[in-house]
Amino acid sequence: METLIPIINRLQEVFLTLGAEIIQLPQIVVVGSQSSGKSSVLESLVGRDFLPRGSGIVTRRPLVLQLVNVPPLGERRKQDNGNSLQGISPEPIYLKIYSPNVLSLTLVDLPGITKVPVGDQPEDIEAQVQKMILSYISNPNSLILCVSPANSDLATSDALKLAREVDPDGRRTLLVVSKLDLMDAGTDALEVLLGRVIPVRLGIIGVVNRSQHDLNTQKSLADSCKDEQAFLQRYYPSLASRCGSRYLARTLSRLLMHHIRDCLPELKTRVTVLTAQYQSRLNSYGQPVEDHSATLLQIVTKFASDYCNTIEGTARHIQTSELCGGARICY
Ligand code: GDP
Ligand code: MG
Ligand code: NA
Repeated sequence: METLIPIINRLQEVFLTLGAEIIQLPQIVVVGSQSSGKSSVLESLVGRDFLPRGSGIVTRRPLVLQLVNVPPLGERRKQDNGNSLQGISPEPIYLKIYSPNVLSLTLVDLPGITKVPVGDQPEDIEAQVQKMILSYISNPNSLILCVSPANSDLATSDALKLAREVDPDGRRTLLVVSKLDLMDAGTDALEVLLGRVIPVRLGIIGVVNRSQHDLNTQKSLADSCKDEQAFLQRYYPSLASRCGSRYLARTLSRLLMHHIRDCLPELKTRVTVLTAQYQSRLNSYGQPVEDHSATLLQIVTKFASDYCNTIEGTARHIQTSELCGGARICY
């Protein structure tokens, strides 16, 4: 099962290259109000800091984060296309991270749900953000990670409300309760974490991320993780083994694998259908010819040109070598 996720990531890459979303693949989408801790949660999953984070609307565009697990001495890259737009934009930024410290996952960080436009934001910012969030989470192959701070009323969580709209049975919604450390003295999140306030079928996981002060003083993620564990042991001993960033990462990985497993039969059917389609087209070019290089080249060229016309609707006089490369992807 562990090897399944890199394969799925590779498939996604191939289909993106083809410019066609032939197969919808699972991904984890993070949803929550502004400053609820979405980017912090993602960072602790990734195990390193690199996301725009802080107060205000910091994440302005969807960020599609592809985590790729590589061996410790493997290649490590970091690529960011920039994030400088005013307002918000539905155009995603793709960021790919190679690291031995991550589970292979695709994560989508979305701008936070906002109510009141500030600064340069358009009047309809709330509607715009909601529409964008819905476009990501309505994908039935998305796991929805709702982030809600422990110091605000869960019943008013817009993230959960949006998730309910597209996932009424809660089959793909997980709740993360952040900021456990910021609750008023004398209160705790036990009832919430036990699902007695709002039950969440896939689970409710409490976390403690780095505070703004921790960020200012450059506290490491490793130290934060240690302190989180200590905090949970101290205040939620009965739940400590089912809370925290590390448990969240394991849970997500497990859910993703279940999800992929559930998708496999349909995936297989679609690949079979596609293969049959291309096979029958290939057959229409006649029998293979041996030792007639010129004729063979013509057949390959015709096949490749038809293939490209179908996929792109445009290709005409494209070089045979390129086309062979493209055609091979189908088999
Ligand atoms: P986002 O807008 O939802 O992406 O939220 P961020 O991850 O950017 O966090 C917003 C602010 O809340 C930052 O200053 C974080 O340091 C802080 N923060 C996030 N999670 C926690 C937490 O669990 N505890 C504390 N004390 N602060 C947190
Ligand atoms: Mg953010
Ligand atoms: Na929320």
